Amino acid sequence: GAPVEINVGKLQPGQLIRAEWRGKPVYVIRRTEETLNALANHEDQLRDPQSAEPQQPEYAANAYRSIKPEYMVALGVCTHLGCAPTYHQGTFEEQVEGVKDGFFCPCHGSKFDMAGRVFQGVPAPTNLVVPEHSFPTETTVLIG
Ligand code: FES
Repeated sequence: GAPVEINVGKLQPGQLIRAEWRGKPVYVIRRTEETLNALANHEDQLRDPQSAEPQQPEYAANAYRSIKPEYMVALGVCTHLGCAPTYHQGTFEEQVEGVKDGFFCPCHGSKFDMAGRVFQGVPAPTNLVVPEHSFPTETTVLIG
């Protein structure tokens, strides 16, 4: 499939844009400073906090699973059976105590953090997939 270009110029901190690439949903989220800082606070509850498994390109195998910390890019495809996890901004504590934002899969209850890292004790076996991507300009993400 052809690469897909997403304009993130108008994306506000905390917002998500959904696009489609190769028939799959792609989420781009502009993470706030607070969200980025909070990522280190729940690593003991994650299955693969250091992104040891190849669920992201090598250039995104870092603490934020991204090229630019501000932007999270991930497939909106649960790694259990492929449902689309929903983004819970400010209301995720109903799912995981002490974690404000995250993704919840409505199909069987898998939970992912704001780097797409899977929490323990849910059916999804791995972190969300970070697709190949780049930033051709300050305000453009190219997927693929
Ligand atoms: Fe997401 Fe089963 S498809 S938990």
